[in-house]
This record gives sequence, structure tokens and C-alpha cells, in this order.
Amino acid sequence: MKVVILIGGEGSNAQAILKRVATKELDIEVVRVISHNHGAKGLEKAQALGVDTMTVAHKDFATKEAFENALKQAILACEAELIILAGFMRVLSADFIRAFPDQIINIHPSLLPDYKGLNTHQRVLEARETHHGVSIHMVTEELDSGTILAQAKIAVGPEDTAQTLKLRVQEIEHLLYPHVIRWFVQERLSTRKNRLYLDGNQIPPKGCLIEFTEKEKQL
Ligand code: GRF
Repeated sequence: MKVVILIGGEGSNAQAILKRVATKELDIEVVRVISHNHGAKGLEKAQALGVDTMTVAHKDFATKEAFENALKQAILACEAELIILAGFMRVLSADFIRAFPDQIINIHPSLLPDYKGLNTHQRVLEARETHHGVSIHMVTEELDSGTILAQAKIAVGPEDTAQTLKLRVQEIEHLLYPHVIRWFVQERLSTRKNRLYLDGNQIPPKGCLIEFTEKEKQL
């Protein structure tokens, strides 16, 4: 399966995915990593792993439409079947999303539908939540609101800061994204009447809750 990863910054998720491709734990071909920011650190990480990279920077275009057209062409040229957003910080229009139906997924650092948007770790701490986590969802034109495919949780401890939460959430992000991408590769997902099914079972409203063992976290 050919995929494109869209990034905007550090690219740690892209790197985690690419490492699993390198070890053959994930049977996809990452055709290209595209950043919407010049100089995103994730571009270097992808290049170091031998992947073609490209920048389609929103700042270089006069309109959102022109930016999205350039991005669309860059993706179409790759013949990608799956578009993986990983730190891609632009809201995509309905027109763009319609060009790739059921093919765009995103990772968000919260247990959606709670804490959409930015600064999730700080907001979770301020609200004294006992749990935090990560969600992977289909992308729609409404920010962080598409059907949730999967979530993974962590407990928030008394010692946690926004920085420790970020690191602990990232640890499970790097496991959860490859896990869910594999569902696409193995063709385990289906859609009926706008509802998503995994192996023929309807996915619950907050996605499938995936737990990782300590051993998996250390790998
Ligand atoms: C991750 O926390 C992801 O959930 C969010 O943006 C961050 C991207 O991190 N959408 P990275 O660029 O993959 O390191």
C-alpha cells in the first residue's frame, strides 16, 4: 500500500512509522513525506531514513485553495492510497477531503471528543483529569471531529507536567499509529451507511481502545 505522510514539525510519528517500515513490521511504502512548513525537522528525519520529501508551504500561496491544489497534485503524483496526517497543522477543506474519500487519517493528542485543538496536555492538567491519551480519527472538514478509529490511554500522575504528558502520550502515539495503519493494509476496515466497521464489528463511538504492554512500549 502506497502512503503519503503529511507533517508540519518534529515528525516523530513519521519517524516511528518509517522505522517500522524499515524493520518490515509495517507493510507499506511511504512514497513521500510532505511538510506544510519549510525547515520542518521531520523532513530531515525522513530523509535520513531514505524517504523522498517535499515542502508545500501554505505560506507560499496566496489562497488556501491554491495551497490545497498544490498539495493535492503532490499527493496524486504519488498514487497514495492512504494519507497519514502526523503533526500537519492545517485544517483541510471539504473539497480537498472529498478528493480522497475515506483515505485521510489524523492523530490527535487527547481522548477525543474531549480536548480538540491545541495545548491538550496543559488543558488536561488544569482540568485535573485522571486520564489522558491519543486518538486516531478519519479526517473531516471539522477540526478533530471525524469518526474515531482508535484510542490509547495513560493515567495522569501527581508528578506529571505538560512536558511529561507530551512525552508519555508520544510514546503511545508511536505504537498506536502503526497499529491502526495495519488495519488499512490488512483491509480490515469497511464502511456501511456512514459507519465504520473493523472485522465486521461496528467501531464504538470513541474508537477501539487499544492497550499496549510495558514490553511493547520498550520496543
Ligand atoms: C502529535 O502529538 C500529534 O498527536 C499531533 O501533533 C503532534 C505531532 O508530533 N497531531 P510529531 O511531529 O509527529 O512529532
